[in-house]
Amino acid sequence: FIAQEAIRAKRDGKQLQDQQIKQFVDGITQQSISEGQIAAMAMAIYFQGMDDREKATLTLAMRDSGDVLDWRSMDLGGPVLDKHSTGGVGDVVSLMLGPIVAACGGFVPMISGRGLGHTGGTLDKFDSIPGYQTAPDNQLFRKTVKQAGVAIIGQTGQLAPADQRFYATRDITATVESVPLITASILAKKLAEGLDGLVLDVKTGSGAFMAEYAQAKELANSITSVANSVGVKTTALITDMNEPLASAAGNAVEVKLAIDYLTGNHRDPRLHEVTQALAVEMLLSGGLASTQQQASTMVDDALNSGRAAERFARMVTELGGPADLLENPEQHLPKAKVIRPLLVKDTELVADGYIQAIDTRALGMAVVGLGGGRRMATDSLNYAVGLSQLSGLNRLATGDTELAMIHADSDEQWRQAATAVANAYTVGSKPAKAQPVIYQRIE
Ligand code: URA
Repeated sequence: FIAQEAIRAKRDGKQLQDQQIKQFVDGITQQSISEGQIAAMAMAIYFQGMDDREKATLTLAMRDSGDVLDWRSMDLGGPVLDKHSTGGVGDVVSLMLGPIVAACGGFVPMISGRGLGHTGGTLDKFDSIPGYQTAPDNQLFRKTVKQAGVAIIGQTGQLAPADQRFYATRDITATVESVPLITASILAKKLAEGLDGLVLDVKTGSGAFMAEYAQAKELANSITSVANSVGVKTTALITDMNEPLASAAGNAVEVKLAIDYLTGNHRDPRLHEVTQALAVEMLLSGGLASTQQQASTMVDDALNSGRAAERFARMVTELGGPADLLENPEQHLPKAKVIRPLLVKDTELVADGYIQAIDTRALGMAVVGLGGGRRMATDSLNYAVGLSQLSGLNRLATGDTELAMIHADSDEQWRQAATAVANAYTVGSKPAKAQPVIYQRIE
């Protein structure tokens, strides 16, 4: 196998043969292909694209570059299901969705990632729970999936290792933004979980990885078509990220919000709509429900009966977290030193109008500025800081309206975050056009 021949073929717009793709991925894993060759191939694919067959072959080759989980020997007694979100601000859905689906008879071995830049990472949220092991051994991971029906943990080096090397090169060669490469990268990792069904939450809007609707749709179509072609029942929802999905952004503050949601203390309506819709998709894909209506009722029951909350509590204890986290979250979750609201009258915004626009990415970056997110992959986090009680679009903004509660490590940090948060909001005399939370379903 001569890597440069495969690179040349793709450079010239030809389709790669399955064998060429597999050998290229093997070479990435075995280190027999150089970083320069990976970069050149990534750039060739960036410009020339890949058809569905090539994407499926690339996905499976990357999936098979490491361990692929197999649940058949465990007699779980239900389908293995997961969700992937392209990420955003206040996207705390996984914390509730996994337990809901588990309470409805599914099994969710969710391997999640850390945040980078303005988007938060599910794993960082769990790292804010004292004792919770985000890197358990395989035995504990499997036991938790079996007992709790859900285990949300971090990625191991054994999972799609070809993607780790491929992605690291893409990251430094301006080749991340390629639909075939993103498709294979996301799916290789998810399919390595040994899934029966998958749902994608592809975000669009000011806080999304793919801000433009057309891009989000292209990615959703690509991933669903490749995943279904390799036998994993997959649907996608395109959802709104023109404002934070939840009223909190940070780590411990989002865990608190998820607990409030599961225990029924408080449910942000937009967050609930997306969580419920994704749960419905998973129940349908897994054959746990046969109609949307039935699936929806199951989700409501799981929440209202407290069974979803129990699944969450069970997962947390199995993985080493506090047994009474749901009863006493304040006792366990880290608290910031300075927690004060930012009112409209403390900013230069007009104190009488509607919140017309939110720069969601900027709110995410305000959390990064507080130390709750990363600029670089190696940054360490302050789990206590963040924003809660965030105002959403079209809220009436008078002087006493609270834009956000800012959780900071110092007064100086609080002031910097206050400026960043205020700058992220646009207030004007007319309300913005109302937008749906869920734009489109793709199957
Ligand atoms: N997330 C991934 O895991 N891979 C990509 O290529 C892009 C986003």
